[in-house]
Amino acid sequence: MSQFFALIPAAGSGSRMGNELPKQYLPLCGRPMIYHAIKTLCNNRSIAGVFIVLSPGDIHWSQYDWSEFSQKLTVLQFGGATRADSVLNGLIAAQQKNLINPQDWVLVHDAARPCLTSDQLNKLIGELASDNVGGLLAVPVADTLKRGDADNHVRQTESRDNLWQAQTPQMFRCELLTRALQNAANMNVTDDASAIEALGLHPKLVPSDAYNFKVTYPQDLALAELIIQKRNHP
Ligand code: C5P
Repeated sequence: MSQFFALIPAAGSGSRMGNELPKQYLPLCGRPMIYHAIKTLCNNRSIAGVFIVLSPGDIHWSQYDWSEFSQKLTVLQFGGATRADSVLNGLIAAQQKNLINPQDWVLVHDAARPCLTSDQLNKLIGELASDNVGGLLAVPVADTLKRGDADNHVRQTESRDNLWQAQTPQMFRCELLTRALQNAANMNVTDDASAIEALGLHPKLVPSDAYNFKVTYPQDLALAELIIQKRNHP
């Protein structure tokens, strides 16, 4: 029987936040941001284990108490230069340590999406567990899309028909995702699905919602704080 594992690449510096502290450790409702995604993933009964991929030079992780998750959490300090490198290094390390089998599912989730819910997670697993390829949470594009030029003048309005915004988790079998990321080594892919697509495969889009947004700019952090506070004190 295949098992389900989560992998959180958390080796980024988060330079767009304009902060010294890497984004995954910025305080959010009294915890480092990454805590919230770890909690949702570890508390899900379908998830057998959660791998955290840290940068080799990470000095922040050990400053927090993670003991409440010790049953499921494994730290792999093999982060790379890009998100794709960090995911690939994590997958290889987990396989070398015999922590995961090639046919097990891996749900790759960004540390910077702290508002993921258990319902979204269950829906993703439910829709993909018997899929041949795998897929990802995503939301249909709602805004009108403009293509601009270098001076910020509109060159063209793009059709939004069938356009989706990719989120995470993105769920693929360990062996397939490892092969896809190795194949995509020089392609600058920014998510896992892109690497799978480069093999000629078609990941499934599983409808999500806007709450599972990625914290990228300082104002995103304030919004995430409001959402999590409201959930904790309805
Ligand atoms: O910077 P961005 O928001 O695109 O990062 C997405 C995720 O990838 C974050 O969880 C970040 O820590 C991770 N990442 C990584 N290794 C890198 C760059 C980003 O694990 N070299």
